[in-house]
Amino acid sequence: MTYAVFAVIFKFSNFVCETYNKSWFQFHECRLKAISREKVILNMNGTILHSVYNIQTEGKMFKRESGFKPWLLESKIDACRFMRKNYNPIAKLIFGLFKEFTNINHTCPYLGPQTVRGFYLKPELLKLPFPSGEYMLSLRWFFDQKLQFDTNVSFLFVEDILKA
Ligand SMILES: *[C@@H]1O[C@H](CO)[C@@H](O)[C@H](O)[C@H]1NC(C)=O
Ligand SMILES: *[C@@H]1O[C@H](CO)[C@@H](O)[C@H](O)[C@H]1NC(C)=O
Ligand SMILES: *[C@@H]1O[C@H](CO)[C@@H](O)[C@H](O)[C@H]1NC(C)=O
Ligand SMILES: *[C@@H]1O[C@H](CO)[C@@H](O)[C@H](O)[C@H]1NC(C)=O
Repeated sequence: MTYAVFAVIFKFSNFVCETYNKSWFQFHECRLKAISREKVILNMNGTILHSVYNIQTEGKMFKRESGFKPWLLESKIDACRFMRKNYNPIAKLIFGLFKEFTNINHTCPYLGPQTVRGFYLKPELLKLPFPSGEYMLSLRWFFDQKLQFDTNVSFLFVEDILKA
């Protein structure tokens, strides 16, 4: 008798950070680390040098198909409003994946160390049906409407039917 087992790979494959204004935001660390075949952790450490009261986050999703092509999601949110109200369902889903690993879970203003430690992807938290593939989520961060830095993260998502 054969039966199917549903297996899922959901892990980081790349992480790129870049600041465009070192007098306001600096990165100290921006790194992935493979813990096992299925688990890759993300660490990010940066500093905001002056209090910021006005933050916009532009999110864009890309899917790799001979180069990354825009895929499905593109939106810009008011991050300060989001931290008060969780008003955007997609941002809520993304933030839900990492809020336990970060110190950014508070309302504006933001100042000083901003860290994400030991963040790894848990398939059970992803409640959207994704086709298998490699994706990139680009987040571009604006303070007072001016681009300050990017955090672009790529991940693999694989659905598998195994026969036993
Ligand atoms: C991040 O992704 C955006 C596309 O949304 C791209 O324009 C930008 O150059 C990328 N940043 C880095 C540091 O690779
Ligand atoms: C860069 O950061 C400074 C604060 O240190 C700010 O006053 C200035 O407007 C920023 N410039 C840009 C282009 O974002
Ligand atoms: C972040 O980097 C700063 C500067 O290198 C360092 O002092 C601090 O301990 C780091 N924080 C974490 C959580 O790694
Ligand atoms: C921050 O964390 C608290 C406690 O874990 C939670 O109740 C709250 O909803 C979180 N805030 C956001 C913006 O997710």
